[in-house]
Amino acid sequence: SSDHQKETQTMEHVVVDGSEVVVKDPQSLCHKISSIRLAGPEKLQVIADFDATLTKYWIDGRRGQSSHGLLRQGSPEYDEKRQKLYEYYHPLEFDPTIPLDQKAKLMEEWWGKSHALLVEGGLTYDAIKKSVTNSTIAFREGVVELFEFLEEKDVPVLVFSAGLADIIEEVFRQKLHRSFKNVRVVSNQMIFDQNGQLVSFKGKTIHVLNKNEHALDMAAPVHDRIDNVNGLNEDNSFVKKRTNVLLLGDHIGDLGMSDGLNYETRISVGFLNDNVENSLESYQKAFDVVYLNDTSMQGVVKLASQLC
Ligand code: TMP
Repeated sequence: SSDHQKETQTMEHVVVDGSEVVVKDPQSLCHKISSIRLAGPEKLQVIADFDATLTKYWIDGRRGQSSHGLLRQGSPEYDEKRQKLYEYYHPLEFDPTIPLDQKAKLMEEWWGKSHALLVEGGLTYDAIKKSVTNSTIAFREGVVELFEFLEEKDVPVLVFSAGLADIIEEVFRQKLHRSFKNVRVVSNQMIFDQNGQLVSFKGKTIHVLNKNEHALDMAAPVHDRIDNVNGLNEDNSFVKKRTNVLLLGDHIGDLGMSDGLNYETRISVGFLNDNVENSLESYQKAFDVVYLNDTSMQGVVKLASQLC
């Protein structure tokens, strides 16, 4: 009917509470919301990217830093070496002419070299703490509300990043001043010796192009990772039984974060922070919901409350 058409059109691109949100197929979204709600919160999990998804893209007119970007390892020489790597590899990361398999090798190379420099340069846990204190990084408004709501409903959240787990955990501690028992960080984990000096990295490297592959093996509680190592497998199978997913990301590649799961219903939310004109169409196609203009997490809080 024309009424229905009108409703669809207005839902497609609307401003809700001051944030712009685009929903390409409102009917499909409504259907997914109903299915997830019907299955109940015990079937639901949230998988969220960290950088520029949970955190703000802009902070007081400056680009927010990533977990890699904020790190000052206490040796300018080594910071510079990692910066040189960034200048070489970052353009390759976004070069559309490099075939994916080749690009994956390049990314592996980058992460390998960068992690090696952190070890070689003698990174300490103290330097991580200082770096986070001095960083330009902030969570989006509403992240705490979202995590609290999900904690109340016993819905697990996997924070999934190709960055550095220890830094992300420190950001949680310093910026949120609390931990959430339902939140797990899945990212590259450091191993420190008794003197608090980095000696190696745990398990297989997660880089931008293999985020999907070893995800669940590395999940660990954000507040007491080390003590809970033995509980991991049990935890992971528990997460695998949660077949409905709310996925949050800022890159189309983030959709791969749920590849390890045989999900039944997935609602994907994309934050389109930059380059809106060129990317809106592909984001609209890829994500069920797209938020524009570096907006808050309030819309997602509302969405979550519709799910459970
Ligand atoms: P993600 O946070 O979206 O999962 O991706 C990690 C980003 O980290 C990726 O865009 C490349 C960047 N990066 C650095 O800035 N410095 C580094 O040394 C490495 C290995 C990655």
